[in-house]
Amino acid sequence: RIVYLDGQYLAETEAKVSIFDRGFLMADGVYEVTSVLGGKLVDFPGHIVRLQRSLDALEIRNPLSSDDWLEVHRQLIVRNNIDEGMIYLQVTRGNPGDRDFAFPPADLPPTVVLFTQAKPGLANNPAAKTGLRIISIPDIRWGRRDIKTVQLLYPSMGKMMAKKAGVDDAWFVEEELVTEGTSNNAYIVKGNRIITRALSNDILHGITRAAVLRFAAEAQMEVEERSFSIEEAQAADEAFVTSASTFVMPVVEIDGAKIGAGTPGPIVARLREIYLEEML
Ligand code: PDD
Repeated sequence: RIVYLDGQYLAETEAKVSIFDRGFLMADGVYEVTSVLGGKLVDFPGHIVRLQRSLDALEIRNPLSSDDWLEVHRQLIVRNNIDEGMIYLQVTRGNPGDRDFAFPPADLPPTVVLFTQAKPGLANNPAAKTGLRIISIPDIRWGRRDIKTVQLLYPSMGKMMAKKAGVDDAWFVEEELVTEGTSNNAYIVKGNRIITRALSNDILHGITRAAVLRFAAEAQMEVEERSFSIEEAQAADEAFVTSASTFVMPVVEIDGAKIGAGTPGPIVARLREIYLEEML
């Protein structure tokens, strides 16, 4: 792979970052994941707007302009010949040359890393036909989940808890209410109505979420932004998750209880179809 590091395109084995980088020592950085379908970026402007928001929240300087970000993404798609896959972008606070809790001076250059992940068959993911089985786990993450930081230890542990339980993923629950999935936003469907938690500091403001809610409204579905419990989800007609890497993905089982018939339902299938049509 050809990767991008601080202004240079390098072979992945040549790209090296300091052991003192704040990303490495403190998880002091933010990231974005953008999908590529048919060699084109999916919903790119939204990711760059959110990147700016995450950087602002942590007072990390944005080292590139929106045009430059786009150019680096395009270069990586071409240089790695990506048709279907993902581009990972990370900005950390940089390398102060030592370990210190206090932030380094604001003029320290941030460290910028981007790389591609080829995923042939991404749009035709077979999981969309079978649906995901999930468990619920307590949400013990910090209180600024709206900032897309690289601090992903607990979400990784959540995926492992799901794996150990023999299922696909987990939904986080706080005060009896679902916040979101380990790496996606969570939804239930009742009749013609899509229900998902309202935006706040409690969840990541998904780029896919924004698009899917817009398409749902355009398709005459009702959209209700409010919290729901696991019990309500288990009694729903359908359930699903959204993210840049999975688009719209049905959920067919929560904590051992089947959702509806236990197979992906028509509303979620329609939403996935609309999303992929609009984005391709
Ligand atoms: N995860 N919530 C969390 C906690 C996430 O990590 C993600 C994305 C989302 C969905 O956001 P978006 O639709 O903008 O991808 C919600 C990415 C894909 C990841 O960590 O790989």
